Amino acid sequence: MSAKSGPGRFVLFGHPVAHSWSPFIHGMFARQFDHVVDYKVQDVVPDKFRHAVINFFVEGGGGANVTLPHKPAAAEIVNDLSARAERARAVNTIVRRSPTELYGENTDGVGLVTDLMRNLGVALNGARLLILGAGGATRGVLAPLLEQEPRGIHIANRTPERAKRLRDEFSDLGEVSTSGFSEVEDRPWDVVINATAASLAGEVPELPARAIGRDSVCYDMAYGRGDTAFMRWAAGRGSRRSYKGWGMLVEQAAESYLLWHGVRPETKPVMGALDRL
Ligand code: ATR
Repeated sequence: MSAKSGPGRFVLFGHPVAHSWSPFIHGMFARQFDHVVDYKVQDVVPDKFRHAVINFFVEGGGGANVTLPHKPAAAEIVNDLSARAERARAVNTIVRRSPTELYGENTDGVGLVTDLMRNLGVALNGARLLILGAGGATRGVLAPLLEQEPRGIHIANRTPERAKRLRDEFSDLGEVSTSGFSEVEDRPWDVVINATAASLAGEVPELPARAIGRDSVCYDMAYGRGDTAFMRWAAGRGSRRSYKGWGMLVEQAAESYLLWHGVRPETKPVMGALDRL
């Protein structure tokens, strides 16, 4: 993709979307380059999503981010998909190649891997990974995680059948196993990633007592001010390293920025600003 520099009009489609941090993050990125970037959120119901995307680009929009619940629909709308987005069957970044030619990418998995490895210094190669949840959030990150060649990824889900379906789709990329929460191997996992929606409701999974150890890195893909329910739960189980998904959010945004503008912003200052909020 050729290097471009702002200005431009960008949007995040979601439902709901009003409380998104993305305008703040993209605003801080733009200031690093003196770009003039207009990044807004647009709440759109699923029925109107296709129309809203097409309108936005026909009217000159530069690029779009897509969040829940529209990521799978976005993968159906674009003309061309990256290999990752095709695997994830979900798009979080739309790049405009022309007003009528849209390219879809999924930067969520790269965002997670970058946060774990580069920002938090977590080794994924050879590690035993446990992912809680088997919905879209897990589907979006499996391929980039497997690319790091962990010893294996175990997907535990309330509905084990859903985890098995993901295993069938991704096991060509590496070792993937599945179970319900209570059948997870009862010895400390190296990395435990929460990709369930349960944490949002303050609920935590029923894992065996020894699945979380002192050195287990516990990562909640959810985020917000303060510690999440999953972080508190992990710390209560003895983990000394529990994190929320701020870094993933900022890193996936930086990848989107790179796709749209041809430059990758520094993420540390933005994470520092979010931590101070
Ligand atoms: P997303 O696209 O955000 O991943 P999703 O496809 O609805 O959303 O998946 C949500 C995930 O959270 C699923 O793994 C779901 O478990 P089920 O497949 O059994 O439904 C999980 N989840 C939601 N609420 C939960 C709860 N209270 N306890 C445990 N898991 C929960």
